[in-house]
Amino acid sequence: MALAGEIDFDGWRRAARQLLGRGVPPGEIFWSTAAEDDLFGAGNLVPPGGESPSFTVPRAFVSLAETALLHRDPERFAHLYRLLWRLRDEPRLLEVAIDPDVAQVQGMAKSVRRDIHKMRAFVRFRRTKLDEADWYVAWFEPEHHILEANAPFFMRRFTAMNWSILTPEASAHWDGADLAIGPGARKADAPGDDALEDLWRGYYASIFNPARLKIGAMHAEMPVKYWRNLPEASLIHPLIEHAQRRMNEMVTDGPTAPNARPHHPHRAAEPPKAEAGSLGALRAEAAGCRACPLWEPATQTVFGEGPPDAPVLFVGEQPGDQEDLEGHPFVGPAGRLFDRALAEAGVDRTHAYVTNAVKHFKFELRGKRRIHQKPGGSEIKACRFWLDREIDLVQPRLIVALGATAAQSLFGKAMPVGKSRGRLLDAGQGRTQALITVHPSYLLRLPDEAAKAEEYGRFVEDLRLTRGFFEAA
Ligand code: URA
Repeated sequence: MALAGEIDFDGWRRAARQLLGRGVPPGEIFWSTAAEDDLFGAGNLVPPGGESPSFTVPRAFVSLAETALLHRDPERFAHLYRLLWRLRDEPRLLEVAIDPDVAQVQGMAKSVRRDIHKMRAFVRFRRTKLDEADWYVAWFEPEHHILEANAPFFMRRFTAMNWSILTPEASAHWDGADLAIGPGARKADAPGDDALEDLWRGYYASIFNPARLKIGAMHAEMPVKYWRNLPEASLIHPLIEHAQRRMNEMVTDGPTAPNARPHHPHRAAEPPKAEAGSLGALRAEAAGCRACPLWEPATQTVFGEGPPDAPVLFVGEQPGDQEDLEGHPFVGPAGRLFDRALAEAGVDRTHAYVTNAVKHFKFELRGKRRIHQKPGGSEIKACRFWLDREIDLVQPRLIVALGATAAQSLFGKAMPVGKSRGRLLDAGQGRTQALITVHPSYLLRLPDEAAKAEEYGRFVEDLRLTRGFFEAA
């Protein structure tokens, strides 16, 4: 019996119904796929329609069969038919987990589910260009035939990006509107290293916690087979070596007094023990923040960046769509305008610490687009914990609030930006002074070109006020 392809579940189901209806026992059927028939001669293609089986197929079997059919084992069609054949006379067969036929098919389904999970965890996109547009391409080698079943997950997850996932046997492509399945590819068809690789490596190094290192579990959860396609893989061995050295040092150094840590609800997991008290440790801790519901739909926590002793700390509202995907603050359209205005004001952004009042992207899904939503008071309050810690560690001489959300977070109450902007205020953090100005997105939204130019000029003037703080540093 020939099926149209490796994952032709409908074809298999139709054939199984007909064969069952005609009473054909499992041992008399040779199952194949169209691709194999091209090699070995014409098979007996499943005709449309067909007889109904003489019994009701349990729903649990249908969903089990749909999953198990994605397994790479060429015998899977036969295993499934044998199970179906037996279910006619043994309706509770699926409950007998130790039955060899049940165990076989359950095992196949489990292996497929695991492969689906691994693909979600280990696919890494690399940015490339297609017709001037950004296009993200990933190479992945699944164990089973899971690409098509898994593609809708990536479509929902990366709705706003154009992407392709290439595998040796098929490829999936999303252009923001349609999902297409195409032929397989070679690894060489996928782009190599790019800037995103560094980003992943940096992220991985920052979340790597030697105190919780379990090499066996790492191999199980992140099988070596996937390592060669992961940018962070090049860090694994140096990090393991470093962790082991560190542990030996800790053993020889003896115990140290524990740090006093305030209790707070912001930690989902154990706090990292490496570099306690540093911005790196704080960033790693914030990566697991669950203090408000915004973490769940967001891609990642976008933490502040800049020198740990920066004299000026800029606070924005929250990461936007691009920041959420890339993991850096102010890298999207508002960030580019911010960069331009800073340069015009004579300020070097690399000397400043740049962060946000809220560290997860808040959005509403409209069709395929993630539309920015203003964070609410409770979200600003929940995230103030991280901003406070950043200010404590950086100890800037000046804090600049970009827009109303940042000002509200900083002063703990709504501040009228129009009235407060452009003059130095007391931020209440010891000697720290504060400055309020508009958010760059506000300038982007102004519809009138003349007003835009005028407001932009005022923004540059406000930023010029920060120069003295850098110079005196
Ligand atoms: N707007 C912000 O407030 N912060 C960012 O990081 C990007 C856009």
